[in-house]
Amino acid sequence: MTGRVAIVSGGIGGLGTAICVALARCGRRVIAVDLDRGDAVDTFRDAAAGLDIDFRPLDVTDFGACGASMRAIESEFGSLDILVNAAGITRDVTLRKMDKLQWDAVMGVNLDGVFNLCRHAVDGMISRGFGRIVNISSVNGQTGQFGQTNYSASKAGMHGFTMALAREVARKGVTVNSISPGYCATPMVMAMADDVRAAIVQSVPVGRLGTAEEIARTVEFLTADDAGFITGANIPVNGGLFMSF
Ligand code: CAA
Repeated sequence: MTGRVAIVSGGIGGLGTAICVALARCGRRVIAVDLDRGDAVDTFRDAAAGLDIDFRPLDVTDFGACGASMRAIESEFGSLDILVNAAGITRDVTLRKMDKLQWDAVMGVNLDGVFNLCRHAVDGMISRGFGRIVNISSVNGQTGQFGQTNYSASKAGMHGFTMALAREVARKGVTVNSISPGYCATPMVMAMADDVRAAIVQSVPVGRLGTAEEIARTVEFLTADDAGFITGANIPVNGGLFMSF
């Protein structure tokens, strides 16, 4: 069904904007929620031009603000059918040097943010008998990564959350899945040291970084009306960097 209402957290970020564009192009009414980050909002508006995509400033670490924002969107747009949790940050540093703020910041956005939005989304989805939740995790939540105890823990936590919630809402027409992107050409990955990134790309079987559009394609697939039998799953989109079954 076209006209489904989709919220994308981190919607003005590297993966988020591509996800908004992909969903809008297949007939979704999209609302990007994110911090109001000046220049990034301008870039987002350029990408969203001509498409049914709105922007609402939101700090996903604020539980109350998430509730207020979701209620406002639900009442303005008449529904909330798809939730994509793509808000994520890194504070890469080895554990011996990591301070509490670096730990809390990453857990707050990457994991608390998922709880804060899902908690306010599921009741409406259940009552309408339809919902699609997609949590954007990471290959580094599956393998762990040097210098990312905070990030890897938050992304692995998203998998547990996804599977548990998937069980709770499976009989209500709501699916909950995660995607584990590998290294994609986003500002987050391009901010890494060039030599560290080059060494990682070298080890990727397809021999290149992924694109945000390749992740967005997977979100489009999982959020389709006829994807109702896929739930509690994790879809790796990593160029073969980590193969498992
Ligand atoms: N593997 C093995 N050893 C490493 C290493 C690595 N990847 N990185 C650093 N080291 C070594 C250093 O050579 C150094 O060794 P010595 O003590 O013998 O000199 C030691 O570990 C400590 O290094 P640093 O003092 O530089 O450590 P640091 O805490 O300042 O920071 C780091 C290290 C910059 C985080 C580095 O480990 C790194 O870049 N890691 C990769 C992080 C990464 O992949 N980030 C991805 C961001 S994008 C993303 O996350 C998106 C996604 O989902 C895929």
